[in-house]
Amino acid sequence: MTIPPQEIGVGIVGFGTVGTGTVKLLLENAELLRKRVGIPIRLVRVADRDVVKDRGIRLPEGVFIEDGMRVARDPDVHILVELVGGTGAAKDFLLEAVRNGKSVVTANKALLAECGPEIVKAVHAAGVDIGFEASVGGGIPIIRTLREGLAANRIRAIFGIINGTCNYILSRMTREGKPFAEILAEAQAAGLAEADPSFDIDGIDTAHKLAILVWIATGGHVPPKEIFVQGIREIDQEDIAFAKEFGYTIKLLAIAKENGVGIEVRVHPTMIPSHYLLATVDGAYNAIYVKGDFVGSSLSYGQGAGMLPTASAVVSDVIEIARNLRRGCAGRIPPGGYFLADPSARANLAPFDQVHSEYYLKIRVVDKPGVLSRIAGVLGSHAISIASVLQKGQGQTAVPIFIVTHRAKESDMRAALAEVDRLPDVLDRTRMIRIENNL
Ligand code: NDP
Ligand code: HSE
Repeated sequence: MTIPPQEIGVGIVGFGTVGTGTVKLLLENAELLRKRVGIPIRLVRVADRDVVKDRGIRLPEGVFIEDGMRVARDPDVHILVELVGGTGAAKDFLLEAVRNGKSVVTANKALLAECGPEIVKAVHAAGVDIGFEASVGGGIPIIRTLREGLAANRIRAIFGIINGTCNYILSRMTREGKPFAEILAEAQAAGLAEADPSFDIDGIDTAHKLAILVWIATGGHVPPKEIFVQGIREIDQEDIAFAKEFGYTIKLLAIAKENGVGIEVRVHPTMIPSHYLLATVDGAYNAIYVKGDFVGSSLSYGQGAGMLPTASAVVSDVIEIARNLRRGCAGRIPPGGYFLADPSARANLAPFDQVHSEYYLKIRVVDKPGVLSRIAGVLGSHAISIASVLQKGQGQTAVPIFIVTHRAKESDMRAALAEVDRLPDVLDRTRMIRIENNL
């Protein structure tokens, strides 16, 4: 496309939580942005299917419209910012803008995780840029950190708290002992949770973000359906109390690590030692712990969601692309950070059933002699060694037995639990939480 000589035109589709923050930032910090880019960044169009709702912002006459496609085709728009969400209309707006020679910015992790290779191909073919800093870690610049700051490193491992809603819920359950449902409702009211909160609490949003991190770290795509994902719905106050007593904190972790066979990529509630920095990450904050072969360990921390922090990341992409447009270049840094012959190549994933971990088990049993030894026998027959056992309560019909194991293989643990759950005195499905002691 021709170089815009005087100003960069920005069009936004989606005037919801992040859209409102982005508009606010572009308007309030217009002069700062002009100085950083060298020419003005002008908000040309904002589209949303709801043109009635009051967002508390006055836009210049004619800027606010209903039809997102008009933004994608508007010749005055150089950068389209997609803040609709999902993989339907959002994808159409984004690809239409790319076909029209516009660079694009998105916060949409679902779209990137599900359709990344297709989008990258379109962006590449059109010779435009795509920015997606806001898609992982909200306001934390983790995409640039991995793609640029740590570009010299082979990334060995990533451990991330990358869903603000889950961290908010788990932190408050731990601190206040309140029930899950009450705290989820407050997260939704605060604008943290996705439109469909099951995306957050069932770990899907975390898996989408992890797929993006692994792509940036390794150059290989990870189809989200190949990630082992377990959410936080089943965590209860008994698990939290046990964790506290044994010096652990429960976090929903996104984990990617090289294990000699391939990359383990998984999302699940995890007990981590309470003295670890990651364990202290509270509320809607996110943190991403990265191990590189030369840099060693580094931790990025900040607000992982919300109107203003996310807008900060969105506009950082706008600035980067505007600077490129000013200099007449695009694609200087490839979206995934690697110049590859096949930009849609897959990451080399390690099979999940071969992963090793320590485990916490909660088994609800009838309190009578011999039950524990039968459970220990089943675990032992699957090469699972017990590190500690605790039984709370006595003489009641049902009591929980808590077991922590030494390192064991996932496939062995699953086979053992299938057998434990069939024992006559075991009353419910055994609950299991993985433990990470070596971050
Ligand atoms: P919202 O639901 O608040 O905003 C989306 C807006 O887009 C809504 O106003 C919605 O209208 C509108 N919209 C939906 N479909 C269309 C359409 N076809 N044409 C025009 N407008 C449409 O979402 P968020 O702002 O929270 O999220 C936006 C994106 O940012 C998502 O991809 C999300 O995952 C991502 N994100 C969000 C963060 C956050 O903290 N909220 C943090 C990081 C990323 P309606 O309300 O009628 O559906
Ligand atoms: N729902 C997401 C979260 C928003 O809670 O982290 C940020 O991506």
